[in-house]
Amino acid sequence: MRLREDVRAVKARDPAARSGLEIVLAYSGMHALWAHRASHALWRAGLRLPARLHAQLVRGLTGVEIHPAATIGRRVVIDHGMGVVIGATAVVGDDVLIYHGVTLGGRTLRTGKRHPTIGDRVIIGAGAKVIGPVTVGADSRVGANAVVTRDAKPGSTLVGVPARELGSAADVPVDLDLGAGI
Ligand SMILES: CC(C)(COP(=O)(O)OP(=O)(O)OC[C@H]1O[C@@H](n2cnc3c(N)ncnc32)[C@H](O)[C@@H]1OP(=O)(O)O)[C@@H](O)C(=O)NCCC(=O)NCCS
Repeated sequence: MRLREDVRAVKARDPAARSGLEIVLAYSGMHALWAHRASHALWRAGLRLPARLHAQLVRGLTGVEIHPAATIGRRVVIDHGMGVVIGATAVVGDDVLIYHGVTLGGRTLRTGKRHPTIGDRVIIGAGAKVIGPVTVGADSRVGANAVVTRDAKPGSTLVGVPARELGSAADVPVDLDLGAGI
């Protein structure tokens, strides 16, 4: 069941999470992701305005704004939640970890694909922005407050503004080493 794997994903990525019940009741990033599944279903059923209104309500309750059209993978974790924005044409892979203040945004006002594609198991640090139709390869790590404006190959570690590659993260088990001082 997806709810169980979601809870397990939070437990694996947040050392502060103590029990499944605590995660279900107190993790607004998780609530936002569950609610997104409903607004995404409404969007795909052609109920665009109800989908937007639902997403807007969820934004007010959780501080996480996910456009109903965005595609979000399995076992994604949004830790702390507040201030996350995920645009309409963004695609987020499986097992991605997103901290507070992250934007997966556009860089132009053109229609069509204008938001990022985030590969599986990517970690996006607090305050980071990934903007434009760029692809961040699987197993990459985006440092806190980085601004990513270009494609990144799998296993990259990206820091700074604009983000530059720090080194290969290919040999780092990302679910164990977040480089995160929580
Ligand atoms: C980018 C990151 C993944 C790199 O982790 P790492 O591989 O362990 O890297 P290190 O800590 O060894 O740092 C390597 C170098 O990059 C620098 N660096 C690390 N993170 C950086 C960042 N976000 N921005 C700019 N420079 C950074 C370090 O100062 C160090 O520089 P130096 O070699 O000149 O001393 C990590 O630092 C990070 O930002 N993780 C996100 C954490 C986060 O958002 N936590 C929120 C918890 S609530």
